[in-house]
Amino acid sequence: MERITISQLQNWKKTKKKFAAITAYDFSFSRLFSNQGIPVILVGDSLGMTIQGHTSTLPVKIKDIEYHTKAVRKGAPNTFLLSDLPFMSYYDTRETLKNTGKIIRSGANMIKIEGGKWLVEIVKELSNRSILVCGHIGLTPQSFNYLSGYKIQGRDKNDANKLIDEAYLLEESGIKMLVVECIPEKLAEKITANLSIPVIGIGSGKNTDGQILVMHDLLGITQGKIPSFAKNFLSESGSIQKAIKKYIDEVEKGIYPGKKYSF
Ligand code: KIV
Repeated sequence: MERITISQLQNWKKTKKKFAAITAYDFSFSRLFSNQGIPVILVGDSLGMTIQGHTSTLPVKIKDIEYHTKAVRKGAPNTFLLSDLPFMSYYDTRETLKNTGKIIRSGANMIKIEGGKWLVEIVKELSNRSILVCGHIGLTPQSFNYLSGYKIQGRDKNDANKLIDEAYLLEESGIKMLVVECIPEKLAEKITANLSIPVIGIGSGKNTDGQILVMHDLLGITQGKIPSFAKNFLSESGSIQKAIKKYIDEVEKGIYPGKKYSF
């Protein structure tokens, strides 16, 4: 696979080519995903649940993300790799710069941080130092206590407008990509149309530039209830390789997520 860069992803946004992304946490899966043609991999702090068995992402430490980023990068040398900064690892600029250095040195192309307005200064500081930053708004799992659980966000007009404002503000501050999680399809469509950076959706309908899924959801091996927006691609594919190919194909053709998997 050719090396995927941020300008490639920006071109896809311009030419309206949809792309698939997936989480990975180790060498074997990242190699398999990259061999099937996945252009973007996220070392998500979802590893707190999928790998470490916690009930939330909050216990994840920066050293965990470093460890998994190094392993994933070895399996996917040409994939565009983003890694999460975990809970409380970006509470101020100094801490953020220190931790970002660790993650970029581990092999990530971009770091992802959750939140809105309060991140403006931090995003500016990172961008001024040529660090690629991905924002993450909507359902932000690191704030699940504050949000009273894992719920759809942006349903009423005020909340929707707040998310639109945050998306603009973050783009203006310097983010180069945005993840929108669990927001209504129409709102995700509006944010995607109004930003010039690629917008990746999860549980946010099919009208974003890209889609992302947690690998365990896509393969139907998540402990407990699989989120209603996640499709088990393995059950109808027969092998992990075919499931990934089908996921890529359905995202690129705008088949997944259809109505059944959207809000
Ligand atoms: O940690 C993660 O896996 C994520 C995705 C759900 C986007 O942030």
